[in-house]
Amino acid sequence: MQRLSNLVGQIRPSPTAGTASDDGSNKPPMEQGLDMTPELMTTIMQYRQSVDELKDEGIFPSMTIFDLQLATKFELGVASEADANTMIDAAEKSGALEILKKLPGPWDGAKTRAAQVKLLQFMGFGQATGSDIFQFAKWQNEFGKRGLNSNIIVPIILGTGTGTDRGFGVNARVILSDAADSERISRTHVRKEGNFEVALYDGIIATTDNEHWQKQRHHLAEAFMPLSSLAKIMPVSLARAKQCTERLAQSAAGGAVVDMSDFLLHEAQAQLQLALLGAPEKLMNETNEDIRAAFIGDLEHGKVGALGDAMKSLMELAATDQTLALPTDEAAVKGPLSRAVQTSNMSAQTNYGNMLLILFAGHDTTGHTMTWLMFEVARHPEIQIALRKEADAFFKKLDGRDPEYRDLAETDLLDRCVTETLRMWPAVANGTFRQLQYEDTVTGPDGKPVSLPKGTFVNIMNWSRHRNPDLWGPDVDEFNPYRDFKPEELAKVGCSMAGANIQSDRFSPFAHAPRGCLGRNFAQMEMRLILLYLFHRFEFKLAPPYDTLTTAKLGATPDVHEFRGINRATMGPMDLEQSSQKRWGTRHVYAMKMFAREDTQ
Ligand code: HEM
Repeated sequence: MQRLSNLVGQIRPSPTAGTASDDGSNKPPMEQGLDMTPELMTTIMQYRQSVDELKDEGIFPSMTIFDLQLATKFELGVASEADANTMIDAAEKSGALEILKKLPGPWDGAKTRAAQVKLLQFMGFGQATGSDIFQFAKWQNEFGKRGLNSNIIVPIILGTGTGTDRGFGVNARVILSDAADSERISRTHVRKEGNFEVALYDGIIATTDNEHWQKQRHHLAEAFMPLSSLAKIMPVSLARAKQCTERLAQSAAGGAVVDMSDFLLHEAQAQLQLALLGAPEKLMNETNEDIRAAFIGDLEHGKVGALGDAMKSLMELAATDQTLALPTDEAAVKGPLSRAVQTSNMSAQTNYGNMLLILFAGHDTTGHTMTWLMFEVARHPEIQIALRKEADAFFKKLDGRDPEYRDLAETDLLDRCVTETLRMWPAVANGTFRQLQYEDTVTGPDGKPVSLPKGTFVNIMNWSRHRNPDLWGPDVDEFNPYRDFKPEELAKVGCSMAGANIQSDRFSPFAHAPRGCLGRNFAQMEMRLILLYLFHRFEFKLAPPYDTLTTAKLGATPDVHEFRGINRATMGPMDLEQSSQKRWGTRHVYAMKMFAREDTQ
């Protein structure tokens, strides 16, 4: 069983141990782990070996962890009752659970071993169903005494290492939501938790080595410089934004319903590959759908190994294309991020981890943000009309010429809508995961400081802070782009403020500096272009069954079965029509059905 546990832990992108019932009721948890067929075992063993080959010999693997999850139909990563028990025994022995006494949390309510096992499984269930952030908010209210300001602590199954070095055990994670603590800790403790290494190796977002992180950040940053890099690749971005209106016109012709989540994720992946990676249109078209199906974990359309193949093609492009250029190359900037991978003198696993991260985080986040924005403005027709007027005025002022990077500074309402969307529906709702570099204090339940030891795992949450009425006012769950944002919170493009990370103590959609999002300027540019062209040409309405959400109140603590964000690394809108039943509950993917009517006036 331990061998099996190690295998299971090896493939987890983050711990998913859930077997609890998905309504949180007292149905008995699963006694045994998944039945391991010989075929499944072989697939996993081959995957493990390929990870070792990447690390040791620089050979790119045939599968990524996302392919493996498709291959195993998301049924691995389930800790049986027996495994959970064994891990709790070990953690008790090592003293790893002592820290759970430092702050309030659901462990306080788990008085028996059976309840503790169930809680561990419930934590995994939250990740598997993409509902963890809502459960944390509920626990903050239940155990924390300071509502959504509360810092709480939860038990976790923590996986560490990659390939044959993979292991896992029970530990604890502080869920940080006090605004001042969140900003201070994320600015000063830049060391990551290590929970992304299983999927992204020692790449920029995953590495726990601060020096290695700094080196990568320094090297990759040139690709994202607003004026010297992004403004130069904007024509590619612009051409695609124009083209996407034609694609939408065809899909929506005759009043057909369009899944705007799928449409916008496709466009974000296209933008990423064409503009930032310098990929040819043919490669983008051939790989777009397969890449997204694997990342989303779409069991219906996903093809095992397709993401691995696409990664090989993109790594090959980065290694061989002599036309790629960064601003300092003194040639026309082309595919600056692929060029940055080409000129990196880092290991194969670092480069591979970065390419995989960029393919994922570089499109999912932006696609979801645009989809949530569409959803909210479809629910607020008066805002949609104002946005269209702004888009029309934008193009009128251009008087027939193409927009340039600096023109994007002129979209005040769109800036506010993007900012409000990032607040209400943060694509990275979990924020960031850190490990304290030295002993530090955070605010306890009675407002007094609580000391946390060096090495404590901390999750600096976006969801609870962005939905906290004490920080935003009583209309916190309303989409209100006109709200009183602080100047440092408002997203800007095309001007001197474009390079600044939008952040405050209550707001960190891109995480706080210095380890904030590196791709945010590209995201802001492509979102402006796509949305300006779409609102200029189309009027959007929610289609059934999403039209039932027009006046729905969508708060911080929805039930697992209600419409909500599906939060699996990034948060997109729940598919109301399709889901699959797993041993641990209902697994939804993403969708947002809309009508897009051409505005003929
Ligand atoms: C609306 C869109 C986006 C949002 C909301 C967003 C949000 C975030 C957040 C919260 C982090 C910190 C995550 C953590 O610490 O674990 C992050 C990191 C990162 N993001 Fe983004 N992101 C977006 C778009 C992009 C794009 C388009 C790219 C690349 C093309 C990108 C590349 C990165 C990279 C490389 C990091 C790691 C930075 C580091 O560790 O130094 N992101 N992003």
